[in-house]
Amino acid sequence: MGKNGKKRIGILTAGGDCPGLNAAIRGVGKAALLEYGMEVFGVSSGYLGLIEKEYRQLSEDDLSGIITLGGTILGTSREKPFRHGQYNKYVRSKPEIIKENYEELSLDALVCIGGNGTMKTAAKLAERGLNIIGMPKTIDNDVWGTDETFGFDSAFNIATEAIDRIHTTANSHRRIMVVEVMGHHAGWLALFSGISGGGDVILIPEIPYELDCIADYLLSRSKSGKPYSIVVVAEGIDRPTKNKGAGRYIAKQLQKRTGMVIRETILGYIQRGGTPSARDRILATRFGAYAAFCAAEGKYGNMVALQGSKVIDIPLAEVSGRLKLVTEDLPMLRKARAIGTCFGDEKVI
Ligand code: F6P
Repeated sequence: MGKNGKKRIGILTAGGDCPGLNAAIRGVGKAALLEYGMEVFGVSSGYLGLIEKEYRQLSEDDLSGIITLGGTILGTSREKPFRHGQYNKYVRSKPEIIKENYEELSLDALVCIGGNGTMKTAAKLAERGLNIIGMPKTIDNDVWGTDETFGFDSAFNIATEAIDRIHTTANSHRRIMVVEVMGHHAGWLALFSGISGGGDVILIPEIPYELDCIADYLLSRSKSGKPYSIVVVAEGIDRPTKNKGAGRYIAKQLQKRTGMVIRETILGYIQRGGTPSARDRILATRFGAYAAFCAAEGKYGNMVALQGSKVIDIPLAEVSGRLKLVTEDLPMLRKARAIGTCFGDEKVI
């Protein structure tokens, strides 16, 4: 609580950046300022900003004109306060320092925007008495408990557009093109962009693949007169050595088995850059305004989430440490198999 009796809400963004973060910051901040008469503080560089006391008050002007901006005006980091034990510049632990600085700033609530790692830290801080509201973001869409995270739709569109472009060069050169997309643990981005981009083969971490099965599929396509094929690979697929990127590994292995000309493209950080999609702007704004509502209502220790058409809040303790992975019973997976997409296993209907 500020000296003027106004509630104080802090906002931090942590983990990998993604389009939509600024729309979320704007949603929390504007609702807090305008609807609930709170003071808003932006914490820099994720949890590191609370350790290093890097935060500043945000005005309505600071929140204007940022809905279309990619990245995060607060900056981010992958600081994991509970992982590195003692903080070498202080005798106290990082979580203790965070709590002290949270109290010194007289925060009534702290909105932590991030992926799985951020939610895990948020849950632990909530257990230690901080009034935490989690908000799920990641292009991977792998946060448990929410149907969607903002960042995913933007990356999905970027990856699809990239795959569309790969079709033309594959067709011109009669080549097999491998496209590596992000997705460390979960294959949502590869699955969605692979289907929307007309991928012939889609490899995701959740489905074990056989290289010979893929090679046979590609050879049979070639023999039936298909001029080219597109192979979409999630960066997190299993492979014997991780010192070579997934896309490069698959391209080399398939070239060896088919004798065909194969090239790989790694989309990398392009998928996390630029302006958010319209859908992500809406979802981030809804999450933001709802997080401010939770702060006004004193609903702490939860994460905002999209379930069906509703934005709700669920306990952080239920979310922490859990991943939302693609499962075999996903209707979209079965439909992709039904149209002949190969997932590297035998189950091509
Ligand atoms: O978590 C989102 C993500 O983009 C993953 O898809 C990717 O593997 C990872 O972040 C990259 O991490 P960093 O930005 O630290 O290189």
